[in-house]
Amino acid sequence: MWKPAQRIKWQSSPGRLPDTDEIARSTLFSPLERGRLKLRNRTWVPAMVPWRATEDGFVTTENLDWYGRFARGKPAALVIEATGIRDVPSGPLLRIGHDRFIPGLEKLVERIRDESGGETRVFIQLIDFLAIRRRPDRDKFLSRFLDVTADIREALDMTDADESSVREHLCSLPDESLEGILDERQWESMTRGYRERVTDMHLPHVRELPTVLPDLFADAARRAETAGMHGVELHYAHAYTMASFLSGTNTRDDGYGGSREHRVRLPLEVFRTVRDAVSDDFVVGARFLAEECVEDGSPLPDVAWFATEFARAGMDFLSLSRGGKFDDAKQPRVGQAAYPYTGPSGYECMPQYLSDEFGPFGRNFSATALVRRTIREAGFTTPVIGAGGVHNFETAEGMLNNGVADVVAAARQSLADPDWFLKLETGHADAVRTCEYTNYCEGLDQKHKQVTCQLWDRDDLDEPGLSMSRDGRRRLVAPSWKRSD
Ligand SMILES: Cc1cc2nc3c(=O)[nH]c(=O)nc-3n(C[C@H](O)[C@H](O)[C@H](O)COP(=O)(O)O)c2cc1C
Ligand code: SF4
Repeated sequence: MWKPAQRIKWQSSPGRLPDTDEIARSTLFSPLERGRLKLRNRTWVPAMVPWRATEDGFVTTENLDWYGRFARGKPAALVIEATGIRDVPSGPLLRIGHDRFIPGLEKLVERIRDESGGETRVFIQLIDFLAIRRRPDRDKFLSRFLDVTADIREALDMTDADESSVREHLCSLPDESLEGILDERQWESMTRGYRERVTDMHLPHVRELPTVLPDLFADAARRAETAGMHGVELHYAHAYTMASFLSGTNTRDDGYGGSREHRVRLPLEVFRTVRDAVSDDFVVGARFLAEECVEDGSPLPDVAWFATEFARAGMDFLSLSRGGKFDDAKQPRVGQAAYPYTGPSGYECMPQYLSDEFGPFGRNFSATALVRRTIREAGFTTPVIGAGGVHNFETAEGMLNNGVADVVAAARQSLADPDWFLKLETGHADAVRTCEYTNYCEGLDQKHKQVTCQLWDRDDLDEPGLSMSRDGRRRLVAPSWKRSD
C-alpha cells in the first residue's frame, strides 16, 4: 500500500477510560430513532469483505462465524460486506443476484439475531462493479489480445502489412516507442490490465447501465428483505459503478454525467426504484465518498449537495467514506488485477499508522461534518454515519458531540476487538484490545485471503473446534471475551 512520504509513526491509544456513569450519560450509548432507522445506540460496524463466501457467492459456515462474532459484541448495526447484485461470478464475495442466494442470507440474519440477542440491526451493502482484468504478459498482449487498429498501422507505417507482421514488430519495440503508438486505453490495458469505466459509451452494456441498474438494485433489495435483513446500504462509494457515476470524472453525455445534477441522477433513480420495491419500514441508505481524493474528483460542495438530494429523496441514512479509487492505484504485477486501495486515495480510505502530519485518525471528520451541517441547514435530520480510525471512547463521543456524525462506524477497531463497543458499554473499557492500524488485515484483503487480525489470529490455537484459515496458520475469528464479572 502507498504511504505518505513523511512516514511519521502514529500510535493508537485507548484514550481516557470512561466509567459507568459517563457511559450512561454518553451520546454514544444513547438510542437513535430517526425515521425508519432505529438503533439501540450509536455504534455501527461498517462493511468489511472477509473473503469467506464460496467461489460462487454463497454464504459459508465461515461467513456465519465471522458475522456471528461481530454480533456477539452487540453493535447497534452491522453491515454485511459489499454483496454483488448481478448473477455473475465474482470470486468468494457474497452475492444476492438471484433467489437461490436467499436461504444462505436468511441463515446469516438468524445467526446475527441469535448472537446479538436481537439487539443488532442487520444491513447488507449492495454493490455493482464493472469488468476488470489482470495485467497481461506484454508479449502475449501484443501478439494476441491487442486490437490492431488502422491508427496503429498508420503510426507504424505498416498499412498494408499482414497482421502477424504488425504484431511481431510491436513486440520488438521498446516501451518508450510503444507508448507513442498505442492509445491511452490500449497502453493501460497492457501495463495495468483492462478496466471498464462508466464513460465507455461505445460499450452497449455500459451505455445501458442507467436502464438496467435500478431494477438490479431493487431486486437485490427485495431479496435482502425476504432474507430478513432490516435494510440495505447502497454502495455508492470507492471504486465501483455507482461511485463512478457520482464522480467528478464522469463525463457521460447521455444526461447521466457532466454536471452534478446529471451525475446524481442515476444514484437517485436507483434509490427510488429500491424504495418502491421494499416495504415501508425497510431501511434504505447509501454509503458514498465525502472526498474522492483523486484529481478531478467531485469537490466537497458537490458532495454536500448530493447528500442534500439524497436526504430530500428520503434516504434513511448517509454513511460517508473516503477515497479508495482505481484512478491512482498502483500498477499491478503481471497476472494480477489493479486494486483500488493501493494508491494515495486508497491510503485515505484505510490510512495506517505510518502517516503524515494529519495522522491516520479522523481524516474524514471535517468533510463529514461539513456534509452533515449542509444537510441540517437544508432542514433534513437524516442520520450521518461517520468513520475513519475511530478506536476509543473519547474520539467516538467527540464525533457525536462535535457535529461530525450521528452514529460512529469503526471497521478495523471492531475487527481487532469485536466486543469493544460492548466492553465500553458494560464498564470494561480497560479490557478493550486497541487496533494498531498496521493494515495487516488490509494486506490479506488485497490478496483475497481470508481476513483476520494480527492481534488475535495466532492466539489460543488449541481451542476445541476452532476454524483455521486455508493456510492452516490463523484462527478465523477472534477468541471469546473472558469476562471478569
Ligand atoms: C478488510 C476490509 C474490508 C473492507 N471492505 C469494505 C466493503 O466491503 N465495503 C465498504 O464500503 N468498505 C469496506 N472497507 C472499508 C471500511 O468499511 C472502512 O471504511 C475503512 O476501513 C475505514 O474505517 P476504519 O478506520 O474504522 O477501519 C473495508 C475495510 C477493511 C479493513
Ligand atoms: S490487523 Fe488488526 S491491528 Fe492491524 S489494522 Fe487490522 S484490525 Fe487493526
